[in-house]
Amino acid sequence: MTQPNIAMLHSRVRVEEKLLIQAFAEHNAPVDLIDDRKIVFDLQGNGWGKYDVVLERCVNHSRALYALRILNDWGIPTVNTYEVAAICGNKLETTSALVRENIPVPRSKIAFTPESALQAIEELGYPVVLKPAVGSWGRLLSKINDREAAEAILEHKQVLGTYHHSIFYIQEYVHKPARDIRSFVVGDETVAAIYRYSDHWITNTARGGHAENCPVTPEIDRLSRAAAKAVGGGVVAIDLLETAAGELLVNEVNYTMEFRNSIDTTGVNIPSRVVDYVLAVAKNR
Ligand SMILES: Nc1ncnc2c1ncn2[C@@H]1O[C@H](COP(=O)(O)OP(=O)(O)O)[C@@H](O)[C@H]1O
Ligand SMILES: [Mg+2]
Repeated sequence: MTQPNIAMLHSRVRVEEKLLIQAFAEHNAPVDLIDDRKIVFDLQGNGWGKYDVVLERCVNHSRALYALRILNDWGIPTVNTYEVAAICGNKLETTSALVRENIPVPRSKIAFTPESALQAIEELGYPVVLKPAVGSWGRLLSKINDREAAEAILEHKQVLGTYHHSIFYIQEYVHKPARDIRSFVVGDETVAAIYRYSDHWITNTARGGHAENCPVTPEIDRLSRAAAKAVGGGVVAIDLLETAAGELLVNEVNYTMEFRNSIDTTGVNIPSRVVDYVLAVAKNR
């Protein structure tokens, strides 16, 4: 096959994008870098028709989502697809897709008003976790330990919150050890996993969580691949929570995954695996 035409859509070039560019070079696969801050999509034009695949690496969820919508409507294969971005970018949609496939998740409730949200919180029992449906890096997550705190958070969301805060996504607090698990799925394979240790209940590495290798057990592998499939497959990172009883629950699925802390930790060349997958998508076009 002649060289595929590949583009990588990006915002700021972060560590991950630098590593991906390096991996493309190591695969002798030229890649056009396209900055999402400079794009104008001509919807009747399809100026992107020459590309066999576009790897999406935008920082901003809305930019990623709409760019993927347009590219997929133009028939251009993307990693990941619009469908995956739409589901993973929204915790409500993700949890609903996981439940549809009988994948274990924390007890979760959705409510549309502060009053019904308070009722849902009291039904679940304290502590509960409230999350914006759209968000990442542990931002605006609340662990609510009692009714007074619940009333305060709900009032703040109602009065000060943006549109996204008018949907109440409420979860049982999972009494996990001082860590969670982040696994990486590329296509049909769970390529690696890390523990994210933290003294804080929010264990994201972006919030100071510390990464250590986590062996990919058959259970982690099975759940991770099932979760990836439930959201449409591709290149995704799964957050898993361990319950006190030792069961694993899928917390969320991330679609423009960060992996800078997970290469040396796991010994797995994640960017190289991602590039292998991108090349395979181009080939199967
Ligand atoms: N229901 C929960 N019970 C216990 N810990 C949780 C729960 N939900 C989230 N966390 C902790 O908070 C972190 C961030 O939550 P997550 O839902 O993954 O949001 P984000 O998209 O911001 O990463 C998780 O990695 C986990 O450590
Ligand atoms: Mg997360």
